Amino acid sequence: MLERIEELRNEARTAIDAAPDAAALEDIRVRYLGRKAELTAILRGIGELPPEQRGPVGKTGNQARVELEGLLGAAKEKLEAAELNARISGESIDVTLPGTPPVRLGHLHPLTRTRREIEDVFVGLGYKVMEGPEVEHDYYNFTALNHPPGHPARMLQDTFYVDPASLGADPELYGTDGAALELPPGPRDVLLRTHTSPMQVRSMEDATPPIFIIVPGRTYRRDSDATHTPMFNQIEGLAVGEDITLADLKGTLLTFARAIFGPDRELRLRPHYFPFTEPSVEVDVSCFRCSGTGVMTVGGSEERCNLCKGTGWLEILGSGMVDPNVFGFVREHGYDPERVQGFAFGMGIERIAMLKHGVPDLRMFFDDDVRMLEQF
Ligand code: DAH
Repeated sequence: MLERIEELRNEARTAIDAAPDAAALEDIRVRYLGRKAELTAILRGIGELPPEQRGPVGKTGNQARVELEGLLGAAKEKLEAAELNARISGESIDVTLPGTPPVRLGHLHPLTRTRREIEDVFVGLGYKVMEGPEVEHDYYNFTALNHPPGHPARMLQDTFYVDPASLGADPELYGTDGAALELPPGPRDVLLRTHTSPMQVRSMEDATPPIFIIVPGRTYRRDSDATHTPMFNQIEGLAVGEDITLADLKGTLLTFARAIFGPDRELRLRPHYFPFTEPSVEVDVSCFRCSGTGVMTVGGSEERCNLCKGTGWLEILGSGMVDPNVFGFVREHGYDPERVQGFAFGMGIERIAMLKHGVPDLRMFFDDDVRMLEQF
């Protein structure tokens, strides 16, 4: 019996030494010290042994059990510590690795950016930014801008008209100050404004001269191709005082052109016609791609500049001196056509952004294809 206990003890010691992990140790514990283990049975059966064997077997058996319990405990601690160390080193974080890229933020739409850049230039020159209604009266969009009823210039703008049935029987006309308007005889049409110019008249109804405003906003025309969309954005400008001249117009627009297109730009004014300005001009800026030469050197050879089509100039806006007839419509608001004068201008925000960033098709701004928008 004592020999058997020694055998079991040696077997168990060897097994404990060789155990690869905590699970193996648990198996060993069950096998040698568990309820059904041989050693357990021996100890439990001591009472049935002859009296002279009980003392030595009980002593040896208990020593073996205590020793094995101790060995198992120690081995378990060692293995668990090793497993923990292995896990810690396996899971350790290399803090010198570059981090995961942060979730990308979006950015402003290129047209919003362009609008704000233009606004910044004019705010810097002392202009106020105003907005006006997109659903507008014929009166402000045409009549008061010197397009009398039946004037052919009305036909130049492919106007969207608002169905009168959707407006009630005879829509009252209200000014910007909310007061009902007594308008001269003429079309009572309501339309989607074809330009931001109606705010020239609305702003002058609201404030006496001098007045310096710009009006960004959406405008609408029945038009669709690579350079026209039914909805587009304009910025109107109006400067009125007693001694504002064409020279001020040119200086103002030159400052604008240089701020947006670069400090070396020059301006060219070409005679044109707009009903609400006299004289009227179209304004070109010297091409910033070819520095106004019309030619570009590509790989040693000279080529026609593809931005200005070899002309050296880019058309950017329409402008002119406010026609006295327009002041006639706001005479009683402090704009005596014999005393005040000033200039107005209007530009397409899309056009400025297209020129600036080389965007070939205006519709790309509205397709909302992020692959295009992300480039800005
Ligand atoms: N309203 C004109 C258009 O949409 C642009 C324009 C031309 C505005 C001359 C002006 C101006 O204020 O003076 O075509």
